[in-house]
Amino acid sequence: MSPIRRPLVGGNWKMNLLSAEARDYVARLGQLSVGQAEVVLFPSFPLLTTLARGLAGSPVALGGQDLHPGAKGAHTGDVSGPQLVDAGCQWVLCGHSERRQDHHESDALVAAKVAAAIEHGLTPLICVGETQEERQAEETFAILERQLRAALPSARDRFELAYEPVWAIGTGATATPEIAQEAHAFLRRTLAEVMGEAIAARCRILYGGSANPDNAADLIAQPDLDGFLVGGASLDPDKFLTIIRACGWS
Ligand code: PGA
Repeated sequence: MSPIRRPLVGGNWKMNLLSAEARDYVARLGQLSVGQAEVVLFPSFPLLTTLARGLAGSPVALGGQDLHPGAKGAHTGDVSGPQLVDAGCQWVLCGHSERRQDHHESDALVAAKVAAAIEHGLTPLICVGETQEERQAEETFAILERQLRAALPSARDRFELAYEPVWAIGTGATATPEIAQEAHAFLRRTLAEVMGEAIAARCRILYGGSANPDNAADLIAQPDLDGFLVGGASLDPDKFLTIIRACGWS
């Protein structure tokens, strides 16, 4: 955690929870007030309006898990930036590894989505990360650099970043604080090269990959780690609140 960057914590619900559970969740998050950490929930699309209603007046922001690069049109099953804004979103995930893998999203498509997010007034949370095979082949930095450099030209100066090693997502095999810090520092150096020192210094780089109440404090102690993108543990509001508190909220 750095003294100059306010921690950011995202809850990525993926394809989980129903509307009654989402209402319950919001009620249990009620104790959260504006604190040191900024908080965003990324529910699946059908839950957005339920959450927008439930979170009205709370400091918790809302984001979509994906968007189509176009503003509207014949794209069955897709959701556009204006529709996310209309549903109450300020944020959107771009390039999550489950989109890159399950939906074959290329770096170019991720860049187009980042551009669409910016155009429609959403803040993209750009996700990058290497697979187990890529890490074993010592390609981690090359992969991170390729994914980051592809997305940045579209990002202007309004974006945040998440380092999510694919081998740590949903596996319980969290990156050690040292491994995470090494990747985060590399990403910040690359950001400085491409976008300049000022943007690199203000950009929050979140860690994602089996973050939980037990490992959050050690991870957030790293100087280039500015919060978390939490999947599984964000489905339980008590665990999510514990992770938020580890980032300085009181
Ligand atoms: P996880 O997911 O916390 O369940 O590993 C993180 C993510 O994919 O954003």
